[in-house]
Amino acid sequence: MPANNPTLSLGKAEMQEFADATMKLIIEHYDTLPQAPVGRKSDPKMLQDWLNEPPPQQGSDPLDILSELQNNALNDTMNITHPKYLAFVPGPGNFASAMGDLIASAYNIFAGAWLGPSGIAVIEIKVIDWLKQMFGFGTGSGGLFVSGGSMANLTAMAVARHVKLRGNITNATIYFSDQTHSSVQKDLAILGFQPYQARKVPSDELGRICVKSLTEQIDSDRIRGMVPFCLVANAGTTNTGAIDPLPTLAKFCKREGLWMHVDAAFGGGAILSPTHRHLLDGIDEADSITIDPHKWMFQPYEIGCVLVHNEQFLADTFKVDAEYLEIFNHGDTSTNQVNYCDYGVQLTREFRALKFWMSVKTFGLENFAAAVDRGFMLAKHAQECLFLDSGFWEICSPAQLCALTFSAKALDHLPPNKAEAILIDTVRHIMASGEAVVAPTRVNGKMVLRLCTINPRTRRSDVAFVIDLLKQQILMRL
Ligand SMILES: Cc1ncc(COP(=O)(O)O)c(C=O)c1O
Repeated sequence: MPANNPTLSLGKAEMQEFADATMKLIIEHYDTLPQAPVGRKSDPKMLQDWLNEPPPQQGSDPLDILSELQNNALNDTMNITHPKYLAFVPGPGNFASAMGDLIASAYNIFAGAWLGPSGIAVIEIKVIDWLKQMFGFGTGSGGLFVSGGSMANLTAMAVARHVKLRGNITNATIYFSDQTHSSVQKDLAILGFQPYQARKVPSDELGRICVKSLTEQIDSDRIRGMVPFCLVANAGTTNTGAIDPLPTLAKFCKREGLWMHVDAAFGGGAILSPTHRHLLDGIDEADSITIDPHKWMFQPYEIGCVLVHNEQFLADTFKVDAEYLEIFNHGDTSTNQVNYCDYGVQLTREFRALKFWMSVKTFGLENFAAAVDRGFMLAKHAQECLFLDSGFWEICSPAQLCALTFSAKALDHLPPNKAEAILIDTVRHIMASGEAVVAPTRVNGKMVLRLCTINPRTRRSDVAFVIDLLKQQILMRL
Protein backbone atom coordinates (compact mmCIF):
# COMPACT_ATOMS: atom_id res chain seq x y z
CA MET A 1 0.00 0.00 0.00
CA PRO A 2 1.61 3.36 -0.96
CA ALA A 3 2.39 5.36 2.18
CA ASN A 4 1.18 8.56 0.54
CA ASN A 5 -2.49 8.11 -0.49
CA PRO A 6 -4.54 11.19 0.47
CA THR A 7 -7.32 10.36 -2.05
CA LEU A 8 -8.01 7.06 -0.26
CA SER A 9 -8.04 5.25 -3.60
CA LEU A 10 -6.79 1.92 -4.89
CA GLY A 11 -5.57 1.23 -8.42
CA LYS A 12 -7.53 -1.11 -10.70
CA ALA A 13 -5.18 -4.08 -10.12
CA GLU A 14 -5.18 -3.49 -6.36
CA MET A 15 -8.97 -3.35 -6.29
CA GLN A 16 -9.15 -6.57 -8.29
CA GLU A 17 -6.77 -8.34 -5.92
CA PHE A 18 -8.63 -7.06 -2.84
CA ALA A 19 -12.01 -8.07 -4.30
CA ASP A 20 -10.79 -11.53 -5.39
CA ALA A 21 -9.41 -12.27 -1.94
CA THR A 22 -12.59 -10.99 -0.29
CA MET A 23 -14.84 -13.08 -2.56
CA LYS A 24 -12.65 -16.14 -1.98
CA LEU A 25 -13.11 -15.68 1.77
CA ILE A 26 -16.89 -15.29 1.46
CA ILE A 27 -17.39 -18.22 -0.93
CA GLU A 28 -15.23 -20.48 1.24
CA HIS A 29 -17.36 -19.44 4.23
CA TYR A 30 -20.62 -20.36 2.46
CA ASP A 31 -19.17 -23.59 1.13
CA THR A 32 -17.81 -24.92 4.42
CA LEU A 33 -20.37 -23.54 6.88
CA PRO A 34 -22.46 -26.71 7.46
CA GLN A 35 -19.33 -28.63 8.51
CA ALA A 36 -17.86 -25.72 10.51
CA PRO A 37 -18.60 -25.15 14.20
CA VAL A 38 -21.55 -22.81 14.88
CA GLY A 39 -19.10 -20.70 16.86
CA ARG A 40 -15.66 -21.12 18.37
CA LYS A 41 -14.50 -20.01 21.77
CA SER A 42 -11.81 -17.39 21.35
CA ASP A 43 -8.65 -17.06 23.37
CA PRO A 44 -9.50 -14.06 25.62
CA LYS A 45 -5.82 -13.11 25.88
CA MET A 46 -5.41 -12.97 22.10
CA LEU A 47 -8.55 -10.85 21.72
CA GLN A 48 -7.49 -8.52 24.49
CA ASP A 49 -4.07 -7.95 22.91
CA TRP A 50 -5.64 -7.42 19.52
CA LEU A 51 -8.32 -5.01 20.72
CA ASN A 52 -5.71 -2.95 22.55
CA GLU A 53 -4.13 -1.93 19.27
CA PRO A 54 -4.24 1.86 18.70
CA PRO A 55 -5.64 3.07 15.34
CA PRO A 56 -2.78 2.51 12.86
CA GLN A 57 -1.21 5.68 11.51
CA GLN A 58 0.08 3.94 8.39
CA GLY A 59 -1.89 1.75 5.97
CA SER A 60 -1.11 -1.91 5.36
CA ASP A 61 -1.65 -4.58 2.73
CA PRO A 62 -5.38 -5.47 2.34
CA LEU A 63 -4.49 -9.16 2.05
CA ASP A 64 -2.79 -9.03 5.46
CA ILE A 65 -5.82 -7.22 6.89
CA LEU A 66 -8.14 -9.90 5.52
CA SER A 67 -6.17 -12.71 7.08
CA GLU A 68 -5.97 -10.80 10.39
CA LEU A 69 -9.75 -10.35 10.26
CA GLN A 70 -10.29 -13.99 9.46
CA ASN A 71 -7.94 -15.34 12.14
CA ASN A 72 -8.81 -12.97 14.97
CA ALA A 73 -12.51 -12.30 14.41
CA LEU A 74 -14.41 -14.16 11.69
CA ASN A 75 -13.24 -17.59 12.81
CA ASP A 76 -14.52 -16.80 16.30
CA THR A 77 -17.87 -15.41 15.26
CA MET A 78 -21.17 -16.97 16.20
CA ASN A 79 -22.56 -18.10 12.85
CA ILE A 80 -26.20 -17.03 12.92
CA THR A 81 -26.60 -18.49 9.41
CA HIS A 82 -25.40 -21.96 10.49
CA PRO A 83 -27.95 -24.80 10.02
CA LYS A 84 -27.59 -25.77 13.68
CA TYR A 85 -28.19 -22.25 15.00
CA LEU A 86 -31.76 -22.65 16.26
CA ALA A 87 -31.85 -19.91 18.93
CA PHE A 88 -33.95 -16.71 19.11
CA VAL A 89 -35.13 -15.89 15.56
CA PRO A 90 -32.17 -16.86 13.36
CA GLY A 91 -31.11 -14.75 10.37
CA PRO A 92 -30.43 -17.34 7.66
CA GLY A 93 -29.50 -14.74 4.99
CA ASN A 94 -28.55 -15.74 1.43
CA PHE A 95 -25.65 -15.19 -0.95
CA ALA A 96 -27.57 -13.32 -3.70
CA SER A 97 -28.73 -10.69 -1.22
CA ALA A 98 -25.19 -10.36 0.13
CA MET A 99 -24.09 -9.48 -3.40
CA GLY A 100 -26.87 -6.85 -3.50
CA ASP A 101 -25.57 -5.33 -0.28
CA LEU A 102 -22.06 -5.26 -1.70
CA ILE A 103 -23.23 -3.33 -4.77
CA ALA A 104 -25.38 -0.93 -2.73
CA SER A 105 -22.39 -0.22 -0.50
CA ALA A 106 -19.84 0.07 -3.33
CA TYR A 107 -22.04 2.52 -5.24
CA ASN A 108 -22.89 4.19 -1.90
CA ILE A 109 -26.45 4.73 -3.04
CA PHE A 110 -28.39 7.42 -1.21
CA ALA A 111 -31.96 6.14 -0.97
CA GLY A 112 -33.40 9.10 0.96
CA ALA A 113 -34.75 11.00 -2.03
CA TRP A 114 -34.75 10.74 -5.79
CA LEU A 115 -33.58 13.82 -7.60
CA GLY A 116 -34.79 12.65 -10.98
CA PRO A 117 -35.93 9.52 -12.79
CA SER A 118 -33.85 6.70 -11.41
CA GLY A 119 -33.74 2.95 -11.93
CA ILE A 120 -32.80 2.64 -8.29
CA ALA A 121 -36.00 4.42 -7.22
CA VAL A 122 -38.03 2.11 -9.42
CA ILE A 123 -36.53 -0.95 -7.69
CA GLU A 124 -37.37 0.35 -4.21
CA ILE A 125 -40.92 1.31 -5.21
CA LYS A 126 -41.34 -2.06 -6.97
CA VAL A 127 -40.22 -4.11 -3.95
CA ILE A 128 -42.53 -2.15 -1.64
CA ASP A 129 -45.30 -2.86 -4.20
CA TRP A 130 -44.54 -6.59 -4.09
CA LEU A 131 -44.86 -6.57 -0.30
CA LYS A 132 -48.06 -4.51 -0.44
CA GLN A 133 -49.60 -7.02 -2.84
CA MET A 134 -48.51 -10.00 -0.76
CA PHE A 135 -50.10 -8.55 2.37
CA GLY A 136 -53.28 -7.44 0.57
CA PHE A 137 -52.59 -3.71 0.87
CA GLY A 138 -54.11 -1.99 -2.17
CA THR A 139 -53.94 1.35 -3.95
CA GLY A 140 -53.19 4.25 -1.66
CA SER A 141 -51.08 2.16 0.72
CA GLY A 142 -47.36 2.65 1.18
CA GLY A 143 -44.31 1.41 2.98
CA LEU A 144 -40.77 2.09 4.07
CA PHE A 145 -37.68 -0.06 4.53
CA VAL A 146 -36.02 0.47 7.91
CA SER A 147 -33.28 -1.27 9.87
CA GLY A 148 -35.46 -4.01 11.40
CA GLY A 149 -38.59 -4.93 13.33
CA SER A 150 -37.93 -2.56 16.24
CA MET A 151 -37.69 0.46 13.94
CA ALA A 152 -40.71 -0.70 11.94
CA ASN A 153 -42.77 -0.90 15.16
CA LEU A 154 -41.50 2.54 16.19
CA THR A 155 -42.40 4.04 12.82
CA ALA A 156 -45.90 2.51 12.83
CA MET A 157 -46.67 3.65 16.37
CA ALA A 158 -45.42 7.16 15.59
CA VAL A 159 -47.91 7.23 12.70
CA ALA A 160 -50.70 5.85 14.94
CA ARG A 161 -49.93 8.51 17.56
CA HIS A 162 -49.99 11.26 14.94
CA VAL A 163 -53.18 10.12 13.20
CA LYS A 164 -55.21 9.15 16.25
CA LEU A 165 -53.96 11.62 18.87
CA ARG A 166 -52.63 14.56 16.84
CA GLY A 167 -49.70 14.70 19.24
CA ASN A 168 -51.75 14.93 22.46
CA ILE A 169 -50.80 11.77 24.30
CA THR A 170 -52.26 12.71 27.69
CA ASN A 171 -54.33 9.80 29.02
CA ALA A 172 -53.85 7.87 25.75
CA THR A 173 -53.60 4.10 26.16
CA ILE A 174 -52.25 1.39 23.88
CA TYR A 175 -52.98 -2.34 24.15
CA PHE A 176 -50.97 -5.49 23.42
CA SER A 177 -50.65 -8.98 24.83
CA ASP A 178 -48.16 -9.98 27.49
CA GLN A 179 -46.36 -11.97 24.74
CA THR A 180 -45.63 -8.88 22.60
CA HIS A 181 -42.01 -8.23 21.64
CA SER A 182 -40.00 -6.04 24.03
CA SER A 183 -39.28 -3.54 21.24
CA VAL A 184 -42.86 -2.25 21.52
CA GLN A 185 -42.28 -1.10 25.09
CA LYS A 186 -38.94 0.43 24.16
CA ASP A 187 -40.53 2.23 21.20
CA LEU A 188 -43.38 3.58 23.36
CA ALA A 189 -40.89 5.08 25.80
CA ILE A 190 -39.11 6.79 22.88
CA LEU A 191 -42.49 8.13 21.71
CA GLY A 192 -43.08 9.72 25.12
CA PHE A 193 -45.59 7.32 26.65
CA GLN A 194 -45.39 6.48 30.36
CA PRO A 195 -45.41 2.79 31.40
CA TYR A 196 -49.00 3.07 32.76
CA GLN A 197 -50.22 4.03 29.27
CA ALA A 198 -49.12 0.66 27.89
CA ARG A 199 -51.73 -1.98 28.78
CA LYS A 200 -50.46 -5.55 28.80
CA VAL A 201 -53.36 -7.91 28.18
CA PRO A 202 -53.14 -11.56 29.32
CA SER A 203 -52.78 -14.27 26.68
CA ASP A 204 -54.22 -17.79 26.47
CA GLU A 205 -52.32 -21.06 26.84
CA LEU A 206 -51.03 -20.82 23.25
CA GLY A 207 -49.84 -17.22 23.68
CA ARG A 208 -52.70 -15.47 21.84
CA ILE A 209 -54.22 -12.30 23.25
CA CYS A 210 -57.35 -12.89 25.34
CA VAL A 211 -60.02 -10.82 23.54
CA LYS A 212 -62.38 -10.87 26.53
CA SER A 213 -59.71 -9.34 28.80
CA LEU A 214 -58.88 -6.79 26.09
CA THR A 215 -62.52 -5.71 25.83
CA GLU A 216 -62.89 -5.44 29.60
CA GLN A 217 -59.68 -3.45 29.93
CA ILE A 218 -60.72 -0.97 27.23
CA ASP A 219 -64.22 -0.55 28.69
CA SER A 220 -62.87 0.14 32.13
CA ASP A 221 -60.23 2.53 30.76
CA ARG A 222 -62.87 4.55 28.92
CA ILE A 223 -64.94 4.82 32.12
CA ARG A 224 -61.85 6.18 33.88
CA GLY A 225 -61.38 8.83 31.19
CA MET A 226 -58.47 7.23 29.37
CA VAL A 227 -58.19 7.47 25.58
CA PRO A 228 -57.62 4.03 23.98
CA PHE A 229 -56.07 4.64 20.56
CA CYS A 230 -54.09 1.63 19.35
CA LEU A 231 -53.85 -2.14 19.49
CA VAL A 232 -50.64 -3.98 18.63
CA ALA A 233 -51.54 -7.51 17.52
CA ASN A 234 -49.03 -10.30 16.99
CA ALA A 235 -48.60 -12.36 13.85
CA GLY A 236 -46.07 -14.67 15.45
CA THR A 237 -44.94 -14.05 19.01
CA THR A 238 -41.21 -14.43 19.48
CA ASN A 239 -41.62 -16.91 22.33
CA THR A 240 -44.04 -19.47 20.91
CA GLY A 241 -44.99 -18.30 17.39
CA ALA A 242 -48.57 -17.50 18.45
CA ILE A 243 -50.81 -15.55 16.09
CA ASP A 244 -53.48 -13.35 17.66
CA PRO A 245 -57.02 -13.75 16.20
CA LEU A 246 -56.52 -11.13 13.50
CA PRO A 247 -60.01 -11.12 11.85
CA THR A 248 -61.72 -10.71 15.25
CA LEU A 249 -59.27 -8.01 16.30
CA ALA A 250 -59.69 -6.16 13.00
CA LYS A 251 -63.47 -5.97 13.52
CA PHE A 252 -62.94 -4.98 17.14
CA CYS A 253 -60.53 -2.15 16.23
CA LYS A 254 -62.94 -0.79 13.59
CA ARG A 255 -65.80 -0.80 16.06
CA GLU A 256 -63.73 0.82 18.82
CA GLY A 257 -61.98 3.33 16.55
CA LEU A 258 -58.51 1.94 17.38
CA TRP A 259 -55.48 1.93 15.11
CA MET A 260 -54.59 -1.71 14.43
CA HIS A 261 -50.90 -2.43 14.09
CA VAL A 262 -49.77 -6.01 13.44
CA ASP A 263 -46.27 -7.01 14.42
CA ALA A 264 -45.49 -9.68 11.82
CA ALA A 265 -41.72 -9.37 12.28
CA PHE A 266 -41.47 -13.09 12.99
CA GLY A 267 -44.53 -14.60 11.28
CA GLY A 268 -44.71 -12.36 8.20
CA GLY A 269 -42.66 -14.85 6.19
CA ALA A 270 -45.67 -17.20 6.16
CA ILE A 271 -47.28 -14.87 3.58
CA LEU A 272 -44.78 -16.19 1.00
CA SER A 273 -46.23 -19.70 1.24
CA PRO A 274 -49.49 -20.47 -0.60
CA THR A 275 -49.96 -23.40 1.83
CA HIS A 276 -49.55 -21.39 5.01
CA ARG A 277 -50.53 -17.79 4.25
CA HIS A 278 -54.09 -18.44 5.45
CA LEU A 279 -52.64 -18.35 8.98
CA LEU A 280 -52.33 -14.58 8.52
CA ASP A 281 -55.91 -14.07 7.32
CA GLY A 282 -57.17 -10.69 8.47
CA ILE A 283 -53.74 -9.02 8.32
CA ASP A 284 -54.85 -7.03 5.25
CA GLU A 285 -57.31 -5.16 7.47
CA ALA A 286 -54.57 -3.74 9.70
CA ASP A 287 -53.74 -0.03 9.56
CA SER A 288 -50.05 -0.90 9.64
CA ILE A 289 -47.84 -3.98 9.60
CA THR A 290 -44.27 -4.65 10.69
CA ILE A 291 -42.39 -7.07 8.46
CA ASP A 292 -38.81 -8.14 9.08
CA PRO A 293 -37.28 -9.55 5.88
CA HIS A 294 -33.99 -10.23 7.71
CA LYS A 295 -35.77 -13.05 9.53
CA TRP A 296 -38.07 -15.47 7.68
CA MET A 297 -37.65 -13.78 4.30
CA PHE A 298 -34.00 -14.81 4.38
CA GLN A 299 -32.35 -11.40 3.92
CA PRO A 300 -29.03 -10.43 5.55
CA TYR A 301 -29.17 -7.74 8.26
CA GLU A 302 -30.45 -5.00 8.27
CA ILE A 303 -33.83 -4.85 6.60
CA GLY A 304 -37.20 -4.34 8.23
CA CYS A 305 -40.28 -2.85 6.63
CA VAL A 306 -43.39 -1.00 7.73
CA LEU A 307 -46.51 -1.03 5.57
CA VAL A 308 -49.26 1.54 6.14
CA HIS A 309 -52.74 1.31 4.65
CA ASN A 310 -52.82 5.02 3.91
CA GLU A 311 -49.47 6.08 2.44
CA GLN A 312 -50.20 9.76 3.06
CA PHE A 313 -50.11 9.14 6.83
CA LEU A 314 -46.36 8.43 6.60
CA ALA A 315 -45.60 11.84 5.09
CA ASP A 316 -48.13 13.55 7.40
CA THR A 317 -46.21 12.15 10.37
CA PHE A 318 -42.62 12.58 9.26
CA LYS A 319 -42.22 15.20 6.53
CA VAL A 320 -40.29 18.27 7.65
CA ASP A 321 -39.06 20.95 5.25
CA ALA A 322 -35.65 22.59 5.24
CA GLU A 323 -34.05 25.08 2.85
CA TYR A 324 -31.33 22.68 1.78
CA LEU A 325 -33.90 19.92 1.06
CA GLU A 326 -36.25 22.08 -1.03
CA ILE A 327 -34.78 20.70 -4.23
CA PHE A 328 -36.17 17.23 -3.35
CA ASN A 329 -39.67 18.57 -4.01
CA HIS A 330 -38.81 19.55 -7.58
CA GLY A 331 -38.23 16.04 -8.94
CA ASP A 332 -39.92 14.49 -11.96
CA THR A 333 -43.53 13.97 -10.84
CA SER A 334 -44.47 11.92 -13.91
CA THR A 335 -42.95 8.69 -12.52
CA ASN A 336 -44.56 8.58 -9.06
CA GLN A 337 -41.20 8.86 -7.38
CA VAL A 338 -41.18 8.87 -3.61
CA ASN A 339 -38.82 10.72 -1.31
CA TYR A 340 -38.49 8.06 1.38
CA CYS A 341 -36.80 10.49 3.77
CA ASP A 342 -40.29 12.01 4.21
CA TYR A 343 -41.69 8.66 5.42
CA GLY A 344 -39.54 7.94 8.46
CA VAL A 345 -36.70 8.95 10.76
CA GLN A 346 -33.74 8.63 8.38
CA LEU A 347 -32.69 11.23 5.83
CA THR A 348 -29.67 9.34 4.56
CA ARG A 349 -30.81 5.78 3.96
CA GLU A 350 -29.04 2.79 2.53
CA PHE A 351 -30.55 1.01 -0.47
CA ARG A 352 -32.06 -1.95 1.40
CA ALA A 353 -34.50 -2.87 -1.35
CA LEU A 354 -31.69 -4.01 -3.64
CA LYS A 355 -30.85 -7.17 -1.69
CA PHE A 356 -34.50 -8.20 -1.54
CA TRP A 357 -34.91 -7.62 -5.27
CA MET A 358 -31.66 -9.45 -6.15
CA SER A 359 -32.60 -12.54 -4.17
CA VAL A 360 -36.19 -12.77 -5.41
CA LYS A 361 -34.94 -12.34 -8.99
CA THR A 362 -32.19 -14.94 -8.44
CA PHE A 363 -34.21 -17.69 -6.76
CA GLY A 364 -37.83 -16.87 -7.63
CA LEU A 365 -40.75 -16.65 -5.22
CA GLU A 366 -41.59 -20.34 -5.57
CA ASN A 367 -38.28 -21.21 -3.95
CA PHE A 368 -38.91 -18.67 -1.20
CA ALA A 369 -42.27 -20.35 -0.57
CA ALA A 370 -40.59 -23.77 -0.39
CA ALA A 371 -38.00 -22.36 2.03
CA VAL A 372 -40.78 -21.09 4.30
CA ASP A 373 -42.66 -24.41 4.10
CA ARG A 374 -39.46 -26.14 5.12
CA GLY A 375 -39.44 -24.14 8.38
CA PHE A 376 -42.93 -25.42 9.18
CA MET A 377 -41.89 -28.98 8.33
CA LEU A 378 -38.77 -28.81 10.53
CA ALA A 379 -40.75 -27.52 13.53
CA LYS A 380 -43.22 -30.40 13.13
CA HIS A 381 -40.27 -32.79 12.81
CA ALA A 382 -38.78 -31.46 16.06
CA GLN A 383 -42.16 -31.99 17.70
CA GLU A 384 -42.27 -35.58 16.44
CA CYS A 385 -38.75 -36.28 17.76
CA LEU A 386 -39.80 -35.00 21.20
CA PHE A 387 -43.05 -36.91 21.08
CA LEU A 388 -41.28 -40.17 20.21
CA ASP A 389 -39.16 -39.71 23.34
CA SER A 390 -42.03 -38.58 25.55
CA GLY A 391 -40.66 -40.55 28.49
CA PHE A 392 -37.92 -37.92 28.67
CA TRP A 393 -39.37 -34.78 27.04
CA GLU A 394 -42.49 -32.72 27.58
CA ILE A 395 -43.73 -30.24 24.98
CA CYS A 396 -44.49 -26.90 26.67
CA SER A 397 -45.89 -25.11 23.60
CA PRO A 398 -46.59 -26.97 20.35
CA ALA A 399 -45.05 -26.08 16.99
CA GLN A 400 -46.59 -22.77 15.91
CA LEU A 401 -45.09 -21.21 12.77
CA CYS A 402 -41.61 -22.63 13.28
CA ALA A 403 -41.14 -22.21 17.04
CA LEU A 404 -41.70 -24.71 19.79
CA THR A 405 -40.76 -24.99 23.44
CA PHE A 406 -40.08 -28.05 25.58
CA SER A 407 -38.41 -29.31 28.69
CA ALA A 408 -37.19 -32.51 30.33
CA LYS A 409 -39.81 -34.11 32.59
CA ALA A 410 -37.14 -34.99 35.17
CA LEU A 411 -36.50 -31.27 35.76
CA ASP A 412 -40.05 -30.84 37.08
CA HIS A 413 -39.08 -32.85 40.15
CA LEU A 414 -36.26 -30.48 41.05
CA PRO A 415 -36.48 -27.07 42.80
CA PRO A 416 -36.95 -24.42 40.04
CA ASN A 417 -33.56 -22.79 40.66
CA LYS A 418 -31.78 -26.15 40.27
CA ALA A 419 -33.76 -26.99 37.11
CA GLU A 420 -32.96 -23.57 35.64
CA ALA A 421 -29.27 -23.90 36.49
CA ILE A 422 -29.19 -27.23 34.61
CA LEU A 423 -30.87 -25.73 31.52
CA ILE A 424 -28.60 -22.69 31.46
CA ASP A 425 -25.49 -24.78 31.97
CA THR A 426 -26.63 -27.16 29.21
CA VAL A 427 -27.21 -24.47 26.58
CA ARG A 428 -24.02 -22.63 27.53
CA HIS A 429 -22.00 -25.83 27.27
CA ILE A 430 -23.46 -26.67 23.84
CA MET A 431 -22.88 -23.12 22.62
CA ALA A 432 -19.26 -23.19 23.81
CA SER A 433 -18.67 -26.57 22.16
CA GLY A 434 -19.64 -25.07 18.80
CA GLU A 435 -21.96 -28.02 18.07
CA ALA A 436 -25.22 -26.03 18.04
CA VAL A 437 -26.90 -22.95 19.52
CA VAL A 438 -30.20 -23.15 21.39
CA ALA A 439 -31.57 -20.55 23.82
CA PRO A 440 -33.93 -20.93 26.74
CA THR A 441 -37.01 -18.80 27.35
CA ARG A 442 -39.91 -18.76 29.79
CA VAL A 443 -43.44 -20.01 29.18
CA ASN A 444 -45.93 -19.21 31.94
CA GLY A 445 -43.00 -18.29 34.17
CA LYS A 446 -41.23 -21.64 33.73
CA MET A 447 -37.83 -21.80 32.04
CA VAL A 448 -37.97 -24.01 28.95
CA LEU A 449 -35.90 -24.81 25.86
CA ARG A 450 -36.94 -23.30 22.55
CA LEU A 451 -36.14 -24.10 18.91
CA CYS A 452 -36.79 -21.82 15.95
CA THR A 453 -36.37 -23.65 12.66
CA ILE A 454 -36.50 -20.95 9.96
CA ASN A 455 -33.15 -21.73 8.34
CA PRO A 456 -33.93 -23.45 5.00
CA ARG A 457 -30.49 -25.08 5.02
CA THR A 458 -31.20 -26.88 8.30
CA ARG A 459 -31.79 -30.62 7.72
CA ARG A 460 -34.11 -32.94 9.61
CA SER A 461 -31.00 -34.74 10.86
CA ASP A 462 -29.66 -31.44 12.31
CA VAL A 463 -32.84 -31.00 14.33
CA ALA A 464 -32.72 -34.60 15.60
CA PHE A 465 -29.00 -34.18 16.43
CA VAL A 466 -29.61 -31.02 18.47
CA ILE A 467 -32.48 -32.60 20.44
CA ASP A 468 -30.34 -35.65 21.19
CA LEU A 469 -27.41 -33.44 22.23
CA LEU A 470 -29.66 -31.53 24.64
CA LYS A 471 -30.87 -34.81 26.14
CA GLN A 472 -27.34 -36.17 26.66
CA GLN A 473 -26.19 -32.94 28.31
CA ILE A 474 -29.23 -32.71 30.59
CA LEU A 475 -28.81 -36.36 31.64
CA MET A 476 -25.19 -35.66 32.59
CA ARG A 477 -26.34 -32.87 34.91
CA LEU A 478 -29.28 -34.59 36.63
C1 LIG B 1 -42.18 -10.34 16.98
C2 LIG B 1 -40.95 -9.47 16.90
N1 LIG B 1 -41.09 -8.13 16.79
C3 LIG B 1 -40.03 -7.31 16.71
C4 LIG B 1 -38.75 -7.82 16.75
C5 LIG B 1 -37.58 -6.86 16.68
O1 LIG B 1 -36.96 -7.00 15.43
P1 LIG B 1 -35.46 -6.50 15.16
O2 LIG B 1 -34.60 -7.36 16.03
O3 LIG B 1 -35.28 -6.74 13.71
O4 LIG B 1 -35.38 -5.06 15.55
C6 LIG B 1 -38.55 -9.19 16.86
C7 LIG B 1 -37.19 -9.77 16.92
O5 LIG B 1 -36.98 -10.95 17.12
C8 LIG B 1 -39.68 -10.06 16.92
O6 LIG B 1 -39.55 -11.39 17.03
